[in-house]
Amino acid sequence: MRTVFVNGVYLPEDQAQISIFDRGFLFGDAVYEVTAVMNGKLVDFDAHMDRLARSMAELDMVRGYERSALLTIHKNLIKRNNLQEGLVYLQLTRGAADRDFDFSDLDVAPGLVLFTQAKSLEVNPLAARGQKIVLADDLRWGRSDIKTVQLLYASLMKTRAKRQGADDVWLCRDGKITEGSSNNAYIVTRHNEIITRALSTDILHGITRAAVLKIAELHQLKVIERAFSVDELKDAKEAFSTSASGFVNPVVTVDGADIGDGQPGQIASALRSSYVSASQAAAC
Ligand code: PDD
Repeated sequence: MRTVFVNGVYLPEDQAQISIFDRGFLFGDAVYEVTAVMNGKLVDFDAHMDRLARSMAELDMVRGYERSALLTIHKNLIKRNNLQEGLVYLQLTRGAADRDFDFSDLDVAPGLVLFTQAKSLEVNPLAARGQKIVLADDLRWGRSDIKTVQLLYASLMKTRAKRQGADDVWLCRDGKITEGSSNNAYIVTRHNEIITRALSTDILHGITRAAVLKIAELHQLKVIERAFSVDELKDAKEAFSTSASGFVNPVVTVDGADIGDGQPGQIASALRSSYVSASQAAAC
């Protein structure tokens, strides 16, 4: 059984409890991060903590934890659970108080929950066979750049995609792709240009995205940060997604139609293996 961390205490997962008044539970008033673990080490921990701080600031969440304390908890959980490869999930809520939309006078301790998930990241069948995706309208709220736990729409659309026999959903606004259910979205054009939506309030500012775009530039691949249309996606040579839990995963079909030759693309596969080596080297 896993050991988890809840509000200052390490305990077996079946003994962990949170208040029914926790605002994360009642209002989705919480932010989170998911950090990959490779060989027992955290991938890009500082970048994840920078984004956590940004999410908190955007939501006026003033009470948090020191980064060094959060690092200690991550490391303790990795050790206690003997995690070699997988994820650490962190959720920080505004805290527990009687239900009230207004939090202006709230002065309670934030809620903090962390747990590990063992998962094979380097070896992933989806990377080898490529993902089938379907498209759906992006009906999420307008601040997808904030990593809140309000994930219902993404969860609903991913479930529908799975029920249709696909692996994931990519979301569209005004005929252009925003991002995947829990990953950033890219195409590779016939001129070998990598196109991905520019950072804005429309998408999560992916930590893997930043790392992969750097690697692409090192490989002297041209990267263009702009929105791409559904037609451009269908006409692309390759497509792929990035996230902390999936790394780089090629996309081979969209709404049942092949992308390129319907096989994982060369550029996506090369970026995936470079990312795996680079992230292992930089893990702490
Ligand atoms: N999701 N876009 C969305 C909507 C996401 O939820 C995620 C991450 C990403 C990729 O961000 P990063 O590269 O920092 O993981 C993009 C995580 C993995 C999750 O919710 O499990």
